[in-house]
Amino acid sequence: MEKVNLMRQVKEDVVALVSSPLYAERIANKVFPVIGEGSHNASIMFIGEAPGKNEAATGRPFCGASGRILDELLLSAGIAREQVYITNIVKDRPPGNRDPFPEEIEAYAPFLDRQIAIIQPKVLATLGRFSMEYVMSRYGLLGELKPISVLHGKVFQGKAPHGEVLVVPLYHPAVAIYGASKKDTLKEDFRVLQAYL
Ligand code: URA
Repeated sequence: MEKVNLMRQVKEDVVALVSSPLYAERIANKVFPVIGEGSHNASIMFIGEAPGKNEAATGRPFCGASGRILDELLLSAGIAREQVYITNIVKDRPPGNRDPFPEEIEAYAPFLDRQIAIIQPKVLATLGRFSMEYVMSRYGLLGELKPISVLHGKVFQGKAPHGEVLVVPLYHPAVAIYGASKKDTLKEDFRVLQAYL
């Protein structure tokens, strides 16, 4: 099946996921799940945490305050947003922007795995601790797991069903909202990705 149809199937399956702990919130708030956006042939896939308010209202990843920072980081590294694929580990918004619960990550992670299998990117660039922990555990790097303050900006060689995949843990763009020095660190780390475009 073509990538576009496989991705459409992922979307339909997430939309129909009545068993999700966040499904009732989605319906009550009349908001949308966020599947992902970008090129299905991307060599770099960014994996954030979960949709925020703006994302759930529009169905688009990283389109609010964190998205503006992500756009700035991409621009500073010379990476076009259309050239990459951007998604999250959790596809529905946790209420009040709280951290996702383990059972929410468990419910949505199989969809992320399917998206990775469809796109087969060279690099999984995780944004924040939750996607870092899932992706490293899932793709052969459990033994390398350390706090994000230690791992950010480093390149790891992981194993995906489609073959070797590089994992680059990055801080979540939201950390730059509260500190300019973290934005400089993020910019430096994003430059690591230029080699894999
Ligand atoms: N934060 C995330 O982790 N993902 C989004 O899509 C928006 C904010």
